[in-house]
Amino acid sequence: MGPLSAPPRTQRITWKGLLLTASLLHFWNPPTTAQVKIEAQPPKVSEGKDVLLLVHNLPQNLAAYIWYEGQMMDIHHYITSYVVDDQTIVYGPAYSGRETVYSNASLLIQNVTGEDAGSYTLQIIKRGDGIRGATGHFTFTLYHGPDLPSIYPSVGYYRSGEKLYLSCSADSNPPAEYSWTINGKFQQSGQKLFIPQITTKHSGLYACSVRNSATGKESSKSITVKVIGKWIPASLAIGF
Ligand SMILES: *[C@@H]1O[C@H](CO)[C@@H](O)[C@H](O)[C@H]1NC(C)=O
Ligand SMILES: *[C@@H]1O[C@H](CO)[C@@H](O)[C@H](O)[C@H]1NC(C)=O
Repeated sequence: MGPLSAPPRTQRITWKGLLLTASLLHFWNPPTTAQVKIEAQPPKVSEGKDVLLLVHNLPQNLAAYIWYEGQMMDIHHYITSYVVDDQTIVYGPAYSGRETVYSNASLLIQNVTGEDAGSYTLQIIKRGDGIRGATGHFTFTLYHGPDLPSIYPSVGYYRSGEKLYLSCSADSNPPAEYSWTINGKFQQSGQKLFIPQITTKHSGLYACSVRNSATGKESSKSITVKVIGKWIPASLAIGF
């Protein structure tokens, strides 16, 4: 193995860490300092992407920062912390393996999932006259999809003269943009496709395409529509 650049010292949470946390929580005081601001970058993030929780107005003379999942500052929600003096990163029970705390207290969450959406709390431990703290909360919106669309009805047999009414839907946030093609040719946009009176010429491959402009993802589904000619009773047919 080649020489490794020295990473910050890291350790799994230890009894010492737990005790440290317990004592910090014990000395917890309500925030009295200037407002610490937490800003998510980007403010809205898609599944699988990264988000950086930027910390602004960090007070001077700090001993440690602790990040929690949700709004409860207990050991179960303890993600990770940074101890300023020895530049040590400690991981807690809520650490998923995708969070990185920086020396400036910002937290990077990589490859976000649906479960990451919500609130985060930062606890700041000040040095000097006892231990003080400040918290910030953050919630992010998770964009996802579109999933594979489904077309209703999915059975594509019609008689000439009938009406064709197809509806397409796909789970997506924000809602997907829909469009229809028939045999590869653009037909119309919108979730529903309506043809009042179909003829055998309307047979073909009907595809619904969905697109989410926020995630940049697309998906599509197609069904085969077969239109059979009108049934003409034999007695009438003979008459012609
Ligand atoms: C904190 O550090 C991270 C990583 O180096 C950086 O991207 C971010 O801009 C810094 N935050 C602030 C508020 O300077
Ligand atoms: C992101 O998370 C998904 C689902 O947990 C996983 O399959 C994928 O490998 C991860 N990607 C990266 C770059 O870590």
